Amino acid sequence: MTQEQILITGAGGQLGRVLTLKLQETYGINHIIASDLRPNTSFNGIFEVLDATDFDALQTIVQNYKITQIYHLAAILSASGEKAPLNTWDINMKTLFNVLEVSRIHKVKKVFFPSSIAVFGDNVQRTNTPQSTNLKPSTVYGMSKAAGENWANYYFEKYGLDVRSIRYPGVIGYQSLPGGGTTDYAVDIYHKAVKNEPFECFLSASTKLPMIYMEDAIRATIEVMQAPSENMTIRTSYNIAGTNFNPEQITTSIRKIYPEFQVSYNPDFRQDIAETWPMSIDDTEAQKDWNWKPQYALEDITTDMIKHLKRKYTIENIDL
Ligand code: SER
Repeated sequence: MTQEQILITGAGGQLGRVLTLKLQETYGINHIIASDLRPNTSFNGIFEVLDATDFDALQTIVQNYKITQIYHLAAILSASGEKAPLNTWDINMKTLFNVLEVSRIHKVKKVFFPSSIAVFGDNVQRTNTPQSTNLKPSTVYGMSKAAGENWANYYFEKYGLDVRSIRYPGVIGYQSLPGGGTTDYAVDIYHKAVKNEPFECFLSASTKLPMIYMEDAIRATIEVMQAPSENMTIRTSYNIAGTNFNPEQITTSIRKIYPEFQVSYNPDFRQDIAETWPMSIDDTEAQKDWNWKPQYALEDITTDMIKHLKRKYTIENIDL
């Protein structure tokens, strides 16, 4: 087996931080090139400052390190994206085009492109949303992901570039903070609970969304990338399910550990976004093609999040 050389864009982000460590563990620290827009001192191993909208800069890194796989995580998320729609489109699409083109030209073997539940709109069945359905996203972020899925499929069909993708639910983890998403409340709420502070939720109590624990999200990412090519029947992006719940249910589960935990509701523009997204996901194809199976339900997530955050706040004794 040839030694993989793996580039990660957006390595400083919520998923990137954790995925970088996992890939270092899997492939060896010297074979992982973490990159992000901003310098990052918290990584051990190789790190490059990279603006992925810069084709030449990306190409130089791919050539210098003889990159064989790219995990392209850099993107502007749903809520932040609505504040600057055209800029979000430019950045999300430009970085993807650069990754696809550089990969085609330099024969990168595999590319990972993260898509999202944001590709769906309120025109589809919102419970057990099927894999193949009409995509009418309500946000620029969702539009960029829906377009990106089709570009991934195009590069596969036209050039044979092995691009793989999953539609992430909201990702919850203790290791890193999300930035600018509609599902971010489900991470923030644990931080507040552990710090004994009240939490004001920007979604209403009954707004149910698909969610996934970081461990499951990272495992899904590695599993889809390692699956035999001939098993991959979806070349746009796979639906994957973790669990699903609303703010009231997550509060109830936290109160089993922190009975005094106070939550109030003050829905803002993110409520409108959430109301166009699925409440749960049908991931039959991912189960069939690469044996996808989540391991964390809400109660497992709550127990694990609180255990780790308690430790973190005790050790650091500072705000994250
Ligand atoms: N978690 C993302 C967001 O809320 C969805 O992909 O934007």
